[in-house]
Amino acid sequence: MKHLIVVAHPVEDSFTMALTRAYADELVRLGHEQKTYDLYRTGFDPVLTRDELLPDGAAHAPADICHAQDDIRAAEVLTVIYPLWWMSMPAILKGYIDRVFARGFAYDSQDGVVHGLLSGKQSVMITISGAPLPLLVKSGKWDAVEVLQDTHIFRSSGFDLIEHLHFDEVAPGLAKTVGEQHMARVRACVRAHFLPATRNCA
Ligand SMILES: Cc1cc2nc3c(=O)[nH]c(=O)nc-3n(C[C@H](O)[C@H](O)[C@H](O)COP(=O)(O)O)c2cc1C
Repeated sequence: MKHLIVVAHPVEDSFTMALTRAYADELVRLGHEQKTYDLYRTGFDPVLTRDELLPDGAAHAPADICHAQDDIRAAEVLTVIYPLWWMSMPAILKGYIDRVFARGFAYDSQDGVVHGLLSGKQSVMITISGAPLPLLVKSGKWDAVEVLQDTHIFRSSGFDLIEHLHFDEVAPGLAKTVGEQHMARVRACVRAHFLPATRNCA
């Protein structure tokens, strides 16, 4: 299968980036094609411009946005990996959603009813928090994440969200053994959803 991984973390040796490399590596090990779009290292510009909102803006989308949309078109699975910052996505990823998930590409609306245009594709969300998940659930914050991120963004755009994998209590000084368990968990997630790709014999 063809996979696109979009990741948002400024620090290359962060837990988030290590998790991303383990996920991508497991896909490749199983014979899948993957492309990782590293928003920070690519220098993605997250600011939606006035021109992009003009009535014919979609037809004149800047080259970086056209390429990003082509990558999504080509992918069968989109995996988005990010730390929860203020229970939301880092601004650079929010800007990616604002600009790449544009009207006419990710969704359309008629009479106020929105319908997604990316159906037929799967998605996986992988998030990381400092707080323990039970605390987030108890306070209602996890519900907010599921409603506003899982459903309002990804499901509403038509994706079949096959898993939202969350890693909680990730903070500086994370024990090496715990980190290794998390890497094993993200690899297991890949194996649980994606079979080894069959290779054509010459
Ligand atoms: C700006 C900022 C905001 C954060 N907001 C939250 C938050 O709302 N809830 C939470 O549980 N953790 C929050 N955290 C903690 C991060 O989610 C956590 O430390 C991080 O994901 C660990 O992964 P990393 O080592 O790859 O950065 C925040 C961290 C930063 C830098």
